[in-house]
Amino acid sequence: AASSLQQLFEPTTSYRSDDEYANVNWDELGFGLTPTDYMYVMKCSINEKFSEGELNRYGNIELSPSSGVLNYGQGLFEGLKAYRREDGRLLLFRPEQNALRMKIGAERMCMPSPSVEQFVDAVKQTALANKRWIPPPGKGSLYMRPLLIGNGPVLGLAPAPDYTFLIYASPVGNYFKEGLAPLNLVVEDKFHRAAPGGTGGVKTITNYAPVLKAQAQAKSKGFSDVLFLDSVNKKNIEELSSCNIFIVKGNAISTPDTNGTILAGITRKSIIDIARGYGYQVEERPIPVEDLIDADEVFCTGTAVVVAPVGNITYLGKRVEYKTGAGAISRKLQSTLTGIQTGLIEDKMGWTVVI
Ligand code: COI
Repeated sequence: AASSLQQLFEPTTSYRSDDEYANVNWDELGFGLTPTDYMYVMKCSINEKFSEGELNRYGNIELSPSSGVLNYGQGLFEGLKAYRREDGRLLLFRPEQNALRMKIGAERMCMPSPSVEQFVDAVKQTALANKRWIPPPGKGSLYMRPLLIGNGPVLGLAPAPDYTFLIYASPVGNYFKEGLAPLNLVVEDKFHRAAPGGTGGVKTITNYAPVLKAQAQAKSKGFSDVLFLDSVNKKNIEELSSCNIFIVKGNAISTPDTNGTILAGITRKSIIDIARGYGYQVEERPIPVEDLIDADEVFCTGTAVVVAPVGNITYLGKRVEYKTGAGAISRKLQSTLTGIQTGLIEDKMGWTVVI
């Protein structure tokens, strides 16, 4: 008991787990939380810079009831994945992009943020410390969830005095319960996700709970998720509750431009580059909802979602069906992306980081 207690409280800065694999049914992974061994924690006050963090055993954290994050939602999150290659090497996908996005979001939310180097180093440490939870090749990935929260106490509305950067991890498989089957979407005509001047473009925690109602209503009607429209004119499509959207028409692939209300997804950005590499004409532009009617294909992208084909979309009671089969462009983009992420396809872009 003494040694396990010691293990519980001792900071471990360069821990590598020894066991080959944790006891997980790798074929049954969905997107639920499987708690892992370690989490990374780094703290600083509002007038400081983050300096040093440590790995702690994964577990509950203590928070002031008057913390900024609990009372006023002062918090950001990120999501990125570690993969195990056939040759046993471990890969991260574009972790510096998550670090940069967190810096931009932190500025918007009046929080100090870790440097890009600190963020990437923390991600590496978290992945290695939880190595036995990284699924076998082809069975999924270790999803890492960096959080940046105002944990210090506030009563009046103000930035919190103290901040915590934390990363926990969970092995994951497919995001949607449909697995890889095409999604059934509904265009949301009542609720909105983001407004100009708001925080739709940054990954604040406060963008997510407000979409639960629309998501729940859609799910109760058998849809996989909702597609939000712009909140000013209800004219252009924006994104789903958890991922970005693309439409395909002939050789043209379009996705809503990041104008402050669209989350600048890292998978979104990667798919744009992969599609351009294949010779498709990719446009980031306002997309009128009517463009859904004569699109050949629609698909979604996100770190959690990866690339998910959309089978149909219902708008004002009318349902439009899309191509999703083996010849679909979304399949080609998906297999190229996951091939790079898992080391099966040569990474000419320099996106992967071997750890
Ligand atoms: C991700 O794709 O990593 C996200 O952060 C979306 C989240 C709703 C799971």
